[in-house]
Amino acid sequence: MHNDVEEILFSKEDISRKVKELGEKISKDYNRDDEVVVVGVLKGANVFMADLIREIDIPVYIDFMAVSSYGYSTESSGIVRILKDLDLEIEGKHVLIIEDIIDTGLTLKYLTDNLKSRNIKSLKICTLLDKPKRRKCDLNIDYIGFEIPDKFIVGYGIDYGEKYRNLPYVASLKEETYK
Ligand code: PRP
Ligand code: MN
Ligand code: MG
Repeated sequence: MHNDVEEILFSKEDISRKVKELGEKISKDYNRDDEVVVVGVLKGANVFMADLIREIDIPVYIDFMAVSSYGYSTESSGIVRILKDLDLEIEGKHVLIIEDIIDTGLTLKYLTDNLKSRNIKSLKICTLLDKPKRRKCDLNIDYIGFEIPDKFIVGYGIDYGEKYRNLPYVASLKEETYK
């Protein structure tokens, strides 16, 4: 276990089981001939996305958007910057956004408003982790892996100051590492 970790909340195995479950659900909910574009929100969703798409057994397109609202801060600024837009044309297609964690919801609020204006067929959201206590806006989340308490979380793609993304588990940080 990493020295800065307080507690492992979800192990590699817990996550793997949940990702399989989500992949199966998603595969059932769409029709095989739907044109689905799975959009990962970089950088955090990178790890989850890579695992999840291999548990989806309907044909999908893959794309990424890079947005950032936190930077090196622990508080969401509420100002979302698009660092990289989609490469694929999504007009007329079903879009499934993949997130690692939803906290205030401000990142996704911005992103979904933006994507909805592009004449798409449907928009769904899938997140591995949800921290509903911190929500600052209305969001309809279609697939949630785990609900988590209001703790500072790292690992499995999620960073603190760009560190810890490569941890294979989801963990809380010791207080002294961020205070
Ligand atoms: C984190 C996380 C989500 C977002 C959730 O991304 O990956 O995208 O914050 O927070 P919110 O619901 O309060 O908006 P971050 O902006 O840190 O960028 P990153 O994915 O590159 O780490
Ligand atoms: Mn992110
Ligand atoms: Mg971050």
